[in-house]
Amino acid sequence: DEAALVEDLLARMTLEEKLGQLAQPRGRWGDTGPEVQQGGEEDVRAGRVGSYLGVYGADYTRRLQEIAVDESRLGIPLLFAHDVIHGFRTIFPVPLGEAASFDHEAVERAARIAAEEATAYGLHWTYAPMVDIARDPRWGRIVEGAGESPYLGSEMAVARVRGFQGQALDAPDTMLATAKHFVAYGGAEGGRDYNTVDISERTLHEIYLPPFQAAVDAGVQSVMAAFNEVGGIPMHAHGDLINGTLRKEWGFDGILVSDYTGVAELIPHGVAANREEAGILALEAGVDIDMVSNIYTGEMLKAVEVGKLDEAVVDEAVRRVLRAKVRLGLFDDPYRYSDKAREKAHTLKPEYRAAARDLARKSLVLLKNEGDVLPLSKQTGTIAVIGPLADNRRVMLGGWAAAGQEGDAITPLEGIRAAVSSDTKVLYAKGAEIDSEDRSGFDEAVDVARKADVVLLFLGEHHDMSAEANNRTSLDLPGVQKELAQAVHASGKPVVAVLFSGRPLAVTWLSEEIPALVEAWFPGIEAGHAIADTLFGDYNPAGRLPVSFPRNVGQIPIYHNHKNTGRPPSQTEKYTSKYLDVPWTPLYPFGHGLSYTTFGYDGLSLDKQAIAPDGSVEVTVTVTNNGARAGEEVVQLYLRDDVASVTRPVKELRGFERIHLAPGESRKVQFHLDFDDLAFYGKDMRRVVEPGTFTVFVGGNSVDLLETQFKVVTP
Ligand code: IFM
Repeated sequence: DEAALVEDLLARMTLEEKLGQLAQPRGRWGDTGPEVQQGGEEDVRAGRVGSYLGVYGADYTRRLQEIAVDESRLGIPLLFAHDVIHGFRTIFPVPLGEAASFDHEAVERAARIAAEEATAYGLHWTYAPMVDIARDPRWGRIVEGAGESPYLGSEMAVARVRGFQGQALDAPDTMLATAKHFVAYGGAEGGRDYNTVDISERTLHEIYLPPFQAAVDAGVQSVMAAFNEVGGIPMHAHGDLINGTLRKEWGFDGILVSDYTGVAELIPHGVAANREEAGILALEAGVDIDMVSNIYTGEMLKAVEVGKLDEAVVDEAVRRVLRAKVRLGLFDDPYRYSDKAREKAHTLKPEYRAAARDLARKSLVLLKNEGDVLPLSKQTGTIAVIGPLADNRRVMLGGWAAAGQEGDAITPLEGIRAAVSSDTKVLYAKGAEIDSEDRSGFDEAVDVARKADVVLLFLGEHHDMSAEANNRTSLDLPGVQKELAQAVHASGKPVVAVLFSGRPLAVTWLSEEIPALVEAWFPGIEAGHAIADTLFGDYNPAGRLPVSFPRNVGQIPIYHNHKNTGRPPSQTEKYTSKYLDVPWTPLYPFGHGLSYTTFGYDGLSLDKQAIAPDGSVEVTVTVTNNGARAGEEVVQLYLRDDVASVTRPVKELRGFERIHLAPGESRKVQFHLDFDDLAFYGKDMRRVVEPGTFTVFVGGNSVDLLETQFKVVTP
């Protein structure tokens, strides 16, 4: 069995071999694809490597695995890890876009497909899902998470862990998932990546930890430490949170991997004077694998020999690594992942592309549609397609695109050309670059707009403006894009703007002046088809914002689950919590998203008016499609504890369901609320449900809501 196999191996390992299992060097890009660094094969042969970062390919991983299995003393197979974030070769929308679908099944399926593709290339382990809550869109990594809601974040975390890890980990198309970055990485000061996090114990427990706990409950097999400190302790040295909360309290028994050079970074953090101290701190805190720092295989050998580090600490870490290899079935067949035939058969399968199109469509959010400009007819006479994102393949993929290739991507221009009828003319002008001061393309763009019946503008960020280390102080459209939009708008033609971004953009002018706005995030390889399907009404949009859109950067942080304060904002009262120069509300609230039909809500009811603290309540609401088109609606439930011993959010998302309704169709939707939904951390930091009233809100976004109340009473 698992434990016996692990203990048997451990008993036969030298200290050097043990530390080797904890080492994760990175690969490099060679002539034909990823490969190990110089001397890498010799390290594998000598048992100095347990896993590799960024090395894949069926043939190549098989060759390395052969060295590990046949030529190293103990024959322990390697693990191959990579950042398979939103698809491997078939690229899906970026995770923030996936979250905008509010669709568990579609998101789980995307992760499943990513695993099917990636495992055929020899990969056993992905560094996803990122489950960091983000309330600051300046932070570039907001693109990789599910936004601002711990509830949505937890649901997406579970869906993605299930997708990557599948039904049973020993199937050859499942991979270890990684919940990252533990913890509060999204709380970095000023949205500057890697920066200091100083939050209360309560915020840590209520906002940042829940998605990690949900991932652990879903069986996630690995967790990555965050680059940041929390309250003075860098996470790579945070034994209380890693060995305490994560392992002891939650029962996590998987691998805790460092982030890239995270162990060595304990030196600049200022808690370790040298590499030896850094390694000891990290190992003792529970960081099992040293990604890239080379400290475990370096300085830790001597540290154990001279008695500065207990070998038992190393043994525990090694056990966890070996256990993962057993769970993946690698001791039964180390080559089961390196399968050339599967690699060929599973790359970009038509059904994978279809799933990418489906999720891309589901992730699009119709922000505004004044006068029902959308959907457009496919017989529109002349359509002007304008903007720097209209025909850019690479940007469609978004950041962290794994083995994605820009040649696989369909651009909006291509999608539109393929969709319209043969007598519709499509004119194209780029107008401007994404981020440049050059206005020389404006004339051509305006000229093209004048010749058209409708203008489709494709604006937004470069994919390199979000993801790791890509932070911005501005949330405006980069370069001269707003001016381009203004010039085109002045032509008097109806304009539809489609935005691409890895974060909310403060598009106040567009939202005031342009009749129709769509947020497309970075939709992946099927971008153009998904966008054309939506603009021409073959698909009725239903994506919702997983994060509030501010009016300007000065409003940050702005999120739906804020506290009320003693002076809640009021438009009329001066001495309240707000700004002089902009309304206190967001430009578009959390959960917002329109459809080509309209939905009505009525009959909000509860099965009980009063429950005990450990009781539950069923919430029912009737949703009706009042329009003439079939469509999907994301029915959302928010909850507020009206009076408690500590302050509670004005409302927080606690349930959602994405439903499909035919024209005129009504459906009863039910939600179940119990202790987990009602509880909060009391003054003593224990989870409690207190007596008193709770308000339940249900609706299609976080603002337009029906509400009702129930009571919690002590028996
Ligand atoms: O997995 C990533 C992490 O999210 C950021 N630093 C690099 C790691 C490995 O590529």
